[in-house]
Amino acid sequence: METVIARTQSEVDTNEAVRSAVNALQAGDLVALPTETVYGLAADALNPASVEKIFAVKERPHFDPLIVHVHHKDAIRDVAEIPEEIKKTIVQLIETFWPGPLTLVLPRKPIISDLVTGGLDTVAVRQCDHPVFHRIIRNFSGPVAAPSANLFGRMSPTSAQAVMDQLEGRIPLIVDGGACSRGLESTIVKVEPGPAKPIITVLRPGPITEVELKKFGKVVFAERNEDVENASPEAPGMLENHYAPNKPLRLLTSPEEFSPEEGRRYALLSYRGQPRDGYLDSYEWDHVAVLSPGSGRVAEAGTRFFHVLRELDGMEEIDEIISEPMPDRGVGKAILDKLRKAAVKG
Ligand code: TXA
Ligand code: MG
Repeated sequence: METVIARTQSEVDTNEAVRSAVNALQAGDLVALPTETVYGLAADALNPASVEKIFAVKERPHFDPLIVHVHHKDAIRDVAEIPEEIKKTIVQLIETFWPGPLTLVLPRKPIISDLVTGGLDTVAVRQCDHPVFHRIIRNFSGPVAAPSANLFGRMSPTSAQAVMDQLEGRIPLIVDGGACSRGLESTIVKVEPGPAKPIITVLRPGPITEVELKKFGKVVFAERNEDVENASPEAPGMLENHYAPNKPLRLLTSPEEFSPEEGRRYALLSYRGQPRDGYLDSYEWDHVAVLSPGSGRVAEAGTRFFHVLRELDGMEEIDEIISEPMPDRGVGKAILDKLRKAAVKG
């Protein structure tokens, strides 16, 4: 199968790209679409044959459920039940963060199949904030299932070319909407009533942070699963060995921990690229990649994370990636989560 990239630089191109994407979805085909987080691999959520293609193309196990994207805030009611006891909080979260990188896990409506939810009685829903995605889903006007557009276990793509590199020949169309502004997958939460305030459990850390969510309830982070076999069905996306580059990656907790091997070539994945962090001058690195060169802020590091990691992975003169830890706060939590899962164990 030939994979075509549809550009969206001009209005004429965008109209054509939107038309092609909507046609593809209606015909039951897959199409890779830009979102503000990462590129998604989209299918008509109500067409089981199309949804099945997602699992085949990604080589993704069926127990790992998909996120359903809705075209309108109210359309959440088409796919999910909103229990009365958490309704106020859900409405507040939607009003505050949608369209945007917050995914809500709620009881599913029967219209959403077992295939989409991996057999769970809940569904993960979000409204994405990207102008091109928005036009496509509005014209399609039904729910769209879209996981990240990568092969299972590999890094999420934050550009059309990154999708091409992994899925060329497997899908007919990639809509190029430019680089993803957030660069990390959405924050996934579930909400339960609590004794004093509602309890907001973060199932996957992402761009919407603890500080932002705290206004709406008590925020807790779900435990990480150590392996596929013991995965809790509630948060299958928290599997280990995810987001892996092809090269080995090691995550340090201190500069002293690094013991280089003779003749091996190492790249440092640095947070701010500043000597005061202690990692930069601790070794003569063959290459240094800086995640947050401008502001030294974790949000910038988040936006650039997959892009920088992909660049390092493609460098022939490097054998191994050595990463500094990120601050365990804000978007840094999400980056650390990915680094831990990408890192060589043991
Ligand atoms: O930003 C994003 O969320 C991107 C863009 C494309 O929207 N999508 C994304 O999808 O990251 P994916 O498939 O790579 O991750 C979806 C994860 C699953 O691995 C699973 O952990 C979680 O969402 N999930 C889906 N349905 C769930 C459910 N019913 N309960 C708990 N977790 C669920
Ligand atoms: Mg993914």
